Amino acid sequence: MCGIVGIVGHSPVAPLIVDALKRLEYRGYDSAGVATIEHGELGRRRAEGKLVNLEHRLGDQPLGGLIGIGHTRWATHGVPNETNAHPHFSRDVAIVHNGIIENFAELRDELSADGYEFASETDTEVVAHLIARELAKGATPVKAAHKALARLEGAFALAIMFRGDEDLLIGARNGPPLAVGHGDGEMFLGSDAIALAPFTDSITYLEDGDWVVIRRKEMSIFDMAGNPVERRRQKSVGTSYLVDKGNHRHFMQKEIFEQPEVISHTLSNYLDFTKGTARQIDLPFDFASLDRLTISACGTAYLAGLISKYWFERLARLPVDIDIASEFRYREVPMSPRMAAMFISQSGETADTLASLRYCRGEGVPIASIVNVPESTIGRESDAVLPTLAGPEIGVASTKAFTCQLSALASLAVRAAHARGHVSAEQGKKLVRELSEAPRFASQVLRLDEQIEKVARDLSQVHHVLYLGRDTNFPLAMEGALKLKEISYIHAEGYAAGELKHGPIALIDENMPVIVIAPYDRIFEKTVSNMQEVAARGGRIILITDQRGAERATVKTMDTIVLPDMPEIITPIVYALPIQMLAYHTAVHMGTDVDQPRNLAKSVTVE
Ligand code: M6R
Repeated sequence: MCGIVGIVGHSPVAPLIVDALKRLEYRGYDSAGVATIEHGELGRRRAEGKLVNLEHRLGDQPLGGLIGIGHTRWATHGVPNETNAHPHFSRDVAIVHNGIIENFAELRDELSADGYEFASETDTEVVAHLIARELAKGATPVKAAHKALARLEGAFALAIMFRGDEDLLIGARNGPPLAVGHGDGEMFLGSDAIALAPFTDSITYLEDGDWVVIRRKEMSIFDMAGNPVERRRQKSVGTSYLVDKGNHRHFMQKEIFEQPEVISHTLSNYLDFTKGTARQIDLPFDFASLDRLTISACGTAYLAGLISKYWFERLARLPVDIDIASEFRYREVPMSPRMAAMFISQSGETADTLASLRYCRGEGVPIASIVNVPESTIGRESDAVLPTLAGPEIGVASTKAFTCQLSALASLAVRAAHARGHVSAEQGKKLVRELSEAPRFASQVLRLDEQIEKVARDLSQVHHVLYLGRDTNFPLAMEGALKLKEISYIHAEGYAAGELKHGPIALIDENMPVIVIAPYDRIFEKTVSNMQEVAARGGRIILITDQRGAERATVKTMDTIVLPDMPEIITPIVYALPIQMLAYHTAVHMGTDVDQPRNLAKSVTVE
């Protein structure tokens, strides 16, 4: 899930490519590179680590040229060093790649036998050599690229240029997204429209199996058989801004603090607060006639889906199957005509979620997707796009996208409950009113920042943490653990509180903090019993609860974070905030790279 850019323009392209790469750094930041053609010759600058290192390199050794390609890498094949950084060259060919060439070992053996030497450990280099070999046999650049593409198996988005031709870029897509940007006498290629937004809002998205020949004043798209194909040119709504951190130290912190506002925007999109009803947003199915709903997603988005299972089943009596997309895609789930599928994704580009969507498409099931980027591939391939109005999320750890996903899902559950006749108009109004209070409670929770920061100081000293919760707080416990491990690198696990005694309790000793998420609800006393079990074994409890819970929890805690009493339906949305704040402050104390934690990328476009 790297980011790629190509520009054939009329001013020096290297700074423009770096600018576009900044907007793609969410896709990976293991290394970055740019190549251009100047006076007929290929030139290249690459640097290990973040884009800023490449900027320094270009500052010391600038690159001229009116045509170029660039890359920001999330390592798959080969360690993240400069040699493995893209662009890769083979004789007259320069190439950048996002994805995985699955038959690269076989191609590498074949090319090695033909005398081609490999400078890097990447799978990408085989593509450059394949094209160079066709050129050496006398093919034109366009024919050489087409022949090489036909040999590739796996997932790829490619941008290719050729020494000696300063008016030719070739792009190809099979899996990861690729967009062509139309300028005035200049053309662009990019992994997404946002990367190209400062240059143009006129975009053509390539479809799987497409490849494109781009010159300054024209472009032609072909399918893999070489037949010309037409793809719609559209106006992108992507904004060109590089969002800044405002007064905040990190994007993650800023995004945590934006939540009252973006939750409110998202809820207003799905709920009519004046009438007290769910809005009748277009859906490709009728909740009333569904037998089952299948939801699939990855990471935090999956956990949002897991929470919604409790809502859909409890409020609407609608059975929900929820799967991690990387499992669902290969599970060969039988589908029936009275089923619908829902996918959840911040980026709308996650490879496993997209593959699951395509499986459902093949099964003929109606598809709705909750995405934060409506123009994304998942958005475009769904029958209905259900947007979260979180705005761009830059921090790799998902925060505001999660609570906006929950806001959309809770609203849909209310709509489903009404459509299926399981809530009266009065009960529906009450639920809508309760949901409308989520932003206010979220604001109140943000005021606990100082207290949470103090708790985080202790947490930053430990090596393992357990999170416990029941009901919707069980997926939230898993989300807490995911947040903590991804940005602080502390090992953490989330468990259903009632499951503790079936194994994990063996881990409890005086060194094990146990974070219990337990608003006062109908099963609160059960969770208190589980806390007693922890306390009896010397475990250190950090309790996140409300006023009533704090008064009734008859157990000694190391810390208690007390939230206001609030309606049950909004607890997963509001309790997500202290969990995010705890992970954030712990990571800050530990001095990790909060917004770009090691080994991760914001958008995961490979399997
Ligand atoms: O873009 P998506 O929502 O499809 O991404 C799914 C996961 O990769 C993502 O939620 C990931 O788990 C986050 N980094 C967690 O904070």
